[in-house]
Parts: sequence; C-alpha cells; structure tokens
Amino acid sequence: SAQDAAAGEKVFVVCKACHQIGEGAKNGVGPALNGLIGRNAGSVPGYSYSAANKGSGLTWDEATFREYIKDPKAKIPGTKMIYPGLKDEQRTSDLIAFLKQFDAD
Ligand code: HEM
Repeated sequence: SAQDAAAGEKVFVVCKACHQIGEGAKNGVGPALNGLIGRNAGSVPGYSYSAANKGSGLTWDEATFREYIKDPKAKIPGTKMIYPGLKDEQRTSDLIAFLKQFDAD
C-alpha cells in the first residue's frame, strides 16, 4: 500500500511528546529522529541511551523499524521508551514516509 507522508505527520503527533525532527531538532526525552531510516540504533550524538538501545546492534531499516514500533519492548527488551506500540500497518507505512523526509544533520 502507498505511503502518505502527510498522513504520517499526523501519526507523528504522539511521538512529538518525546522526539523532535526537522531542521534544528534537538534531543529531548528521546533522541532527535533526523536521518533515522538507515542509521544504526543508539547513534545520535549527545543522547544518553539505555544500554539496551545502545547495545541492540540494530540498524533502522524499514523492516526493523516496523517491528520495533509495533512493540518496542519486544524488539528491544529494556528500552526506556515508554510507548505501547503502533499496531496499524498503514499508519506505520505513512509514518515511515514522514520520517524519510528528514535527512541526517
Ligand atoms: C527511542 C521512535 C514515541 C521516548 C526511540 C527510537 C526510535 C523511536 C526509532 C530509537 C532511536 C535510536 O536508536 O537512535 C519513536 C516513534 C514514536 C516514539 C516513531 C511514535 C510513534 C515515543 C514517546 C516517548 C519516546 C511517546 C516518550 C514517552 C523515547 C526514548 C527513547 C526512544 C526515551 C530512548 C530509548 C532508550 O535509550 O532505551 N524512539 N518513538 N518515544 N524514544 Fe521513541
């Protein structure tokens, strides 16, 4: 199914409680998410990750991100991200389209 970045921006509203993205995005409760798809987990400079996230050995490709966001604690046991999971596949596709708009700084 198609990916709709505008719909994904609406999905991202809940993420914005803890994450910034876009020009000038800073780390907050969670790490900034610019350039997410394609980079290694736990690699944002200056952000204090849990050992679980930092040492997960994951790369955030689309498939891995999809599994993670569906059930974060299942994919990374011990993560400090408090988020129950996004179960809807279309909304996840839209979210990925939104995230891909923002390259690494
Ligand atoms: C970590 C995405 C919602 C807090 C992460 C990571 C991703 C992510 C991909 C790993 C980043 C990395 O390895 O560099 C998202 C998305 C969300 C969301 C797409 C919405 C669907 C939230 C919310 C909170 C939160 C609502 C706070 C209540 C955190 C924290 C971490 C994190 C604290 C660091 C985890 C650790 O070091 O164990 N998030 N997140 N996130 N997120 Fe989220």
